[in-house]
Amino acid sequence: MKFFIDTANIDEIKEAQEMGILDGVTTNPSLAAKENRPYREILTEICRVVDGPVSAEVIATDSAGMIAEADELVKIGDNIVVKIPTILSGLTAIKTLSERGIKTNATLVFSPMQALLVAKAGATFVSPFVGRLDDYAYDGMDLIADIVNIYNNYTFSTEVLVASVRNPIHVLESARLGADVCTIPLKVIKQLIQHPQTDIGLAKFLEDYKKVPKS
Ligand code: G3P
Repeated sequence: MKFFIDTANIDEIKEAQEMGILDGVTTNPSLAAKENRPYREILTEICRVVDGPVSAEVIATDSAGMIAEADELVKIGDNIVVKIPTILSGLTAIKTLSERGIKTNATLVFSPMQALLVAKAGATFVSPFVGRLDDYAYDGMDLIADIVNIYNNYTFSTEVLVASVRNPIHVLESARLGADVCTIPLKVIKQLIQHPQTDIGLAKFLEDYKKVPKS
């Protein structure tokens, strides 16, 4: 499973990259707003430090506007993936962009049928938002299971990118279900490596080593 980081913060991206596990980045307008810098400037900097896919979201809600924004966004870097909202006009934009060889990420997906449609339109990635479904007492991971199952029934090349990840269980379940990608906030990435028994065991090894005769 590929690990993307879900942030527009360059320091967080560099920190995840130093861990050696980073495959890409996802951003959105809400994450960009936290940085208090122009979105294009943020994306340019991210593309300078990351080789893998970098998702950049359009603001237009009509197909022509989405396509025009996509044409500008892809000039920022070869690795830009254009994030398109999963609405009717978004389907048209995804179809047109995929025919032109521009990579797309269908965002704000909350149902298996939305996922089927964006795959048919040729989306590179589909982004189901698991945490936001959990917020409504619907298990977001059930949606991932449905999508993986449906895609496996056919020959879609669309990758399942689990988004709105809030905790390590979301990542574990994504891997169990065979999702292609999980986009994860830095805080959760760091939680994945932690185990108290590792810390206790390491402290004991270091303490015991003091008792080993030195030559
Ligand atoms: O990848 C989408 C993500 O940024 C949304 O997360 O926590 O706002 O639902 P959240």
